[in-house]
Amino acid sequence: MEAPMMHDQPRRSGNWTVPDHVPAELVRFLDFRTGLSSCPHAQVAEFHKGPSVFYSPLSHQDRGGEGKGAWVLTRAEDIRKMLQQTDIFSSAEPRSYAMGESWKLIPLEVDPPEHALFRAPLNALLSPGRINGLEPRMRTMAAELIDAIKDEHECEFIRSFGEQMPVRIFLELMGMSDHELKKFRSWADMIVHDRHKRGQAMAEVKAFLAEQITEHRANPREGTLVTEALGFKAGDRPFTDEEVMGTVFLLFIGGLDTVVSSLSYHFRYLAEHPEDQQRLRQNPEMIPDAVEELFRAFPVVTTGRVVSQDTEMFGVLMKKGDMVAGSTLLSTSDPEEFENPEIIDLTRSPNRHNAFSFGPHRCLGSHLARREVQVAIDEWLKRIPEFRVRPGTKFETLGGGVMGMKELPLVW
Ligand code: HEM
Repeated sequence: MEAPMMHDQPRRSGNWTVPDHVPAELVRFLDFRTGLSSCPHAQVAEFHKGPSVFYSPLSHQDRGGEGKGAWVLTRAEDIRKMLQQTDIFSSAEPRSYAMGESWKLIPLEVDPPEHALFRAPLNALLSPGRINGLEPRMRTMAAELIDAIKDEHECEFIRSFGEQMPVRIFLELMGMSDHELKKFRSWADMIVHDRHKRGQAMAEVKAFLAEQITEHRANPREGTLVTEALGFKAGDRPFTDEEVMGTVFLLFIGGLDTVVSSLSYHFRYLAEHPEDQQRLRQNPEMIPDAVEELFRAFPVVTTGRVVSQDTEMFGVLMKKGDMVAGSTLLSTSDPEEFENPEIIDLTRSPNRHNAFSFGPHRCLGSHLARREVQVAIDEWLKRIPEFRVRPGTKFETLGGGVMGMKELPLVW
């Protein structure tokens, strides 16, 4: 991912175009899909040395349109402003365009004020109280998974644990069997990281979820998210079938990839910093604050909005239809927001990071995600002695709307 100045360069090439209203000196390439190094967070943070807003002619925010670029905001304050100003920066362009359809992910692809009608019934689904009730199950599951590998003295972390624990917990919560966990993960991989396979994978997930919804309708399963979604109301009317699908689809995708990616970065950091492992092993009460700092240092989501009316904000002219990327990788590494953002301080306080976004669409699953990571680190450190990355490992980054890592081989 290079960042060339474009003063004397063409405004279009085979697969990209710079629109006429974009000043040439504000063109940089930051496409979250390609050119990512094995340390993408440090690489992306370098963009703080440039202008506070720039235009990338290629972007993962293209929503199915080949070669579409996006404005990229780098300052946390500007990203917050953009996420709050929903009358100009709309979230309502459906990702289902990728499969040639137009149904919406609920509530992500609904703008305020209507958004509140859909968000309200969802809030209770993943509330702190409900997550407290899940913790004992999380601990048992984490312990079983770790006990199964601890005598092997090595593992590929993501396959053995990182994707097992959160995905199994989440599928239980949804009221779905985990016997096809592998298939679910490969769907999530394609949807999040592979634009060419996205449409096909979305169609398969939709067909699978349609069966699940029919099954839950015929045989309701108390206390599961799919059954509960069937009873949701937007104000005083029931969700339509399409809205139930949009809700279940978003929960399914939201729950399958983000926690796995976060755990991968958090455990890589600990594997590379045995002194911090030891601190947390000896002082497990530090884990919740440490997890906040790991979320700040290794956020994974880059979200986007569509400009719904021409506007002059952030010192540039943005035209209706332009995309704007708001990357949590940039907002949590902003030196105007955090002192020495490149330093990972497990006791950092205050630590008001935006890893779970900001504004009306802030993450609904954040309490679940935080608790899963806290439990995972706690149970792992209780059972596994000092662990490290297997010598000679070359990390491969998976890009897109959610940053991920292909493999994390650990030894102990
Ligand atoms: C570490 C894990 C996670 C991270 C980093 C994360 C991050 C985010 C971010 C940045 C957004 C805002 C997107 C936007 O504004 O366009 C978001 C929204 C959302 N997340 Fe998460 N997420 C995580 C886990 C989860 C889980 C486990 C679930 C579900 C079980 C979930 C469900 C949602 C939903 C439903 C929304 C949309 C909320 C709305 O539109 O009102 N997330 N998440």
